[in-house]
Amino acid sequence: MSKTHTLLMPLDMHLHLRDGVMLENIAPLTAYSFSGAIVMPNLVPPVETLKDIQAYKARIIAAVPNDYFEPYMTLFYKNYDKKFLESISQEVTAIKLYPAGITTNSEGGVSSFNIEEMRETLQAMSDLEIPLCVHGETDGFVMDREAEFMSIYELLASTFPNLKIIMEHITTKEAVTMLDKYENLYATITVHHLILTLDDVVGGMMMPHLFCKPIAKRPEDLDALLNVALAAHPKVMFGSDSAPHPQHKKEACGCAAGVFTAPISLQLLCEIFEQYDKLDNLQAFVSDNAQSIYGICPEFKEITLEKRPFVVPKDYSGVVPMYAGEEIAWAIESVD
Ligand code: NCD
Ligand code: ZN
Repeated sequence: MSKTHTLLMPLDMHLHLRDGVMLENIAPLTAYSFSGAIVMPNLVPPVETLKDIQAYKARIIAAVPNDYFEPYMTLFYKNYDKKFLESISQEVTAIKLYPAGITTNSEGGVSSFNIEEMRETLQAMSDLEIPLCVHGETDGFVMDREAEFMSIYELLASTFPNLKIIMEHITTKEAVTMLDKYENLYATITVHHLILTLDDVVGGMMMPHLFCKPIAKRPEDLDALLNVALAAHPKVMFGSDSAPHPQHKKEACGCAAGVFTAPISLQLLCEIFEQYDKLDNLQAFVSDNAQSIYGICPEFKEITLEKRPFVVPKDYSGVVPMYAGEEIAWAIESVD
């Protein structure tokens, strides 16, 4: 008998679903094996009104008619007033802050972290219990961007101690250390950042399908991330940051940032957690911690994975996944 592992109600706490035909092709891949996902708002133009949120949510649900799947909606951060935030507070699960121009479709983000300018919005979010998700990178040297952003996390966390702040897709030992420093700081971690260092991206041949923001860092950073993820530290959650781009935008001069992992992320997580003999902690990492942190209660879904070789498809409707054409060690066996 081969080895199996069952996960209940997996949640992807950071996901890009895009829009239009891409949404229709991509959303079913996550809806098949996850109970829900925090859906990023960096569309063109971004999700920033009540109408945008409701219409995008309806388009997502229409794209996955046969699956139970909850899209947890987010709003693109601007310095909104309290009245507006009250009007949308029941429709969003979080608000996502991007520093301006730091990643794909973030041009309308925050250009300076002036607390006085942000105070009304952040205080209202704190009062309304709307978590703040942050893409934490400065515009400094690429390997230092996340570490440099730590002082901004400290400023935000100490000024708004009741605001839940989620450090999205952390990649450094500095961010891991920050978790235990402030009660109101949490983090998501991707599966690719539990596997890759910069060496895998550019150390040999340049691998466009492993290129993302934030870029994978050093071995000691990978170790720090593995430590908290494998231990299912109660303040960390799985967030794939699966970020599909058409093949021609990845295999191009001027490669778009984003690793596409949605259809294989649970399989890869099983492989990693099994390798370190920590499979028992995977449930907390892929669902239980997120349920506690966000106070969400997804409907029942049970996914059984099996340890057997699975060859990752070369593409999914024109989007090339991580490990395309390669064999991985686990496969999805059943979904109930
Ligand atoms: C994301 C995208 O493509 O939307 N890209 C990425 O490299 N992760 C944006 C983001 O989360 O930074
Ligand atoms: Zn992202």
